[in-house]
Amino acid sequence: MNVLLIGSGGREHALAWKLAQSPLMGKLHAAPGNPGIAELAELAPLDPADHRAVIDFCRRHSIGLVVVGPEAPLVDGLADNLRAMGLLVFGPSRIAAQLEGSKGFTKELCTRASIPTARYARASDRLAAEAALEDFGFPAVIKADGLAAGKGVVIAASPEEAAEALDLMFDGGFGAAGEALVIEEFMEGEEVSFFALVDGETVLPFGSAQDHKRVGDGDTGPNTGGMGAYSPASIFTPELERRAMDEILLPTVRALAQDGTPYSGILYAGLMLTTEGPKLVEYNVRFGDPECQVLMMRLESDLLALMLAAAKGELADAGSVRFSDAAALTVVMAAQGYPGTPAKGGAIEGIDRGMAEGAFVFHAGTRVEDGRLVAAGGRVLNVTALGSTVLEAQRTAYRAVDAVDFPTGFSRRDIGWREIARIRRQG
Ligand code: AMP
Ligand code: GLY
Repeated sequence: MNVLLIGSGGREHALAWKLAQSPLMGKLHAAPGNPGIAELAELAPLDPADHRAVIDFCRRHSIGLVVVGPEAPLVDGLADNLRAMGLLVFGPSRIAAQLEGSKGFTKELCTRASIPTARYARASDRLAAEAALEDFGFPAVIKADGLAAGKGVVIAASPEEAAEALDLMFDGGFGAAGEALVIEEFMEGEEVSFFALVDGETVLPFGSAQDHKRVGDGDTGPNTGGMGAYSPASIFTPELERRAMDEILLPTVRALAQDGTPYSGILYAGLMLTTEGPKLVEYNVRFGDPECQVLMMRLESDLLALMLAAAKGELADAGSVRFSDAAALTVVMAAQGYPGTPAKGGAIEGIDRGMAEGAFVFHAGTRVEDGRLVAAGGRVLNVTALGSTVLEAQRTAYRAVDAVDFPTGFSRRDIGWREIARIRRQG
């Protein structure tokens, strides 16, 4: 079967790597892809926002499945338009993608389905926002309703910080995403990412991970898309997974099905493990980036077969998903300046030396310029390794990071610290 993969980051490189291993795979195409993906797939210069062009491409290349990596094309209705033309798609419809596209949509669904999450209020003007802040106290969580590339959340420690955040959001600092706000109570606990494959009805657990959102060692500095991740997250015990399934994911999928807008694709639940149990922080309608990279390293099942089963509504017959018992860890090598304005064009050499250390180096933001590989984005490479423990995976990953020559890049040196502290405590 021929497959078209939409996207161009490290997440999509990891998906391409795993998809390419499937015995069901015919020809893999990627749009727009990146130089790492180009080693596994034929790249197509397609704009995912041009749905007509994507449909024509699928027809010309006999595409049997379209896998959509990032959220924006899903929120934009790409999956709906492809399905309307009879194509199979891995990824939710425009309305189901509102789980990520609108925080207010998700909060309202949580209320309806009694899903544990932070108390909240929606506010579309300053007066309402201030009233909600007074109600919840500090720290308070202020969120732009729409997609804001992971940057639309402010945790305000004081009324002054809250006022600043409101100024920014209501002054259009997040464009249309900030036209409506969600104000939430602050939840205490450790965060974990939990993934599940969904085909409208059946929900198949697909592993856990933890990422590191802050740019600096010791979780300091501004938020990023994620500077590294590891899987599994041992804090997320089978008992917690069962509760998350019963109390959060299954009721969500049921509610969407009852509304006539069933969810299909990967569902990524950001959970807070509170003293009262797991609570939903947010949903994403795609794989996490870089969480996907560690999940793919550990996945033993046929990814293409699973994605096809999800797209066809046949997950109930797909059996369970097999992951290696090994741990996987990924370190993001970013361009200096990230998450602000990253330095572009910096030369990258020695990826093969990193691979020789036993890691896999996924391309996240690279480009070939005059025959040389250079940085083309904020997050540039994802150096990913397996090990019998997170500690072992971390050692291999950093040996590989040190073998790659990327002078205008940087990475955190403490990816995995929570898990490693847990291993040390257990002696
Ligand atoms: P979100 O985009 O909703 O995931 O928010 C980004 C980050 O803000 C999350 O990963 C959490 O670290 C934090 N966060 C969001 N909502 C809350 C909350 N209600 N309580 C505590 N932290 C939160
Ligand atoms: N790493 C966080 C995310 O993909 O949203």
